[in-house]
Amino acid sequence: MNETPKVLELAVEMALDAGRIQRERYETEIRIESKSAKIDLVTEVDQECEARIIRRIQEERPGDAIVAEEGGGVDREDAAWRWIIDPLDGTTNYAHGFPRFCVSIGVEREGEREVGVIYDPLLDELYRASRGGGAWLGTRQLRVSQEDRLDHALVATGFAYDVHRSVDDNFANFGRLLKAARAVRRDGSAALDLCYVAAGRLDGYWEFKLHSWDVAAGILMVDEAGGRTSDLAGGKAPRSGSEIVSTNGLLHEEVLAILGETGHRTRGEK
Ligand code: IPD
Ligand code: CA
Ligand code: CA
Repeated sequence: MNETPKVLELAVEMALDAGRIQRERYETEIRIESKSAKIDLVTEVDQECEARIIRRIQEERPGDAIVAEEGGGVDREDAAWRWIIDPLDGTTNYAHGFPRFCVSIGVEREGEREVGVIYDPLLDELYRASRGGGAWLGTRQLRVSQEDRLDHALVATGFAYDVHRSVDDNFANFGRLLKAARAVRRDGSAALDLCYVAAGRLDGYWEFKLHSWDVAAGILMVDEAGGRTSDLAGGKAPRSGSEIVSTNGLLHEEVLAILGETGHRTRGEK
């Protein structure tokens, strides 16, 4: 039996449900705490969204593995299906009332990306993809842009939460792309950045030191929209999200060459 349509449907329902909570609590008084660094925040809305998503998966699919940012999941090495969840991507934005955040739910089958759902609750934009089934924003099938000139390209990036203390801070890359592209954005939601590459709103995006939950759904979205995502050497994008370069494909080598010049040395595992 092909379980993918059911898994996709469940992911969509859970993303809409979490998005509704985010919309309702947006710009209200919420509890905010720090995690790995002073600037790495978590709110009670992140936690509530994650708890609801996990509860529902455990009810409907008790054998599946779950990896979730706020730690509520149970990973299982031997499970065929693995849910990789960022219950609220763009927490800093959310905490400040800056209207750019989403829910991201990626699902792997036997270690391969199979389903991705990302929901932007304020714009009511639901992105979904399944392997071989295309990437969709509502009823519109997504295609990456056809831009082949970097000086006409809009690209985006982000900075990790260790930016105050790490020299491996992506600043040099940011400067180089700023000089080469039409413009560079830093909008604060990796999952939406990847959706925007898929939708042709951005021509490229790169970031380092992300986590699996930031990119699990978004990389599939870009793949299914005809784009390319890789590590800095042009090889397979790491599942961990430690090095992500994602473009419409046409600009990929040029962006890799620019990032290669300034470099990012991955310390530790990919
Ligand atoms: C963050 C966002 C941000 C990116 C950070 C991520 P969070 O996720 O995706 O755009 O630059 O590296 O950690 O913490 O809001 O889920
Ligand atoms: Ca995130
Ligand atoms: Ca998050």
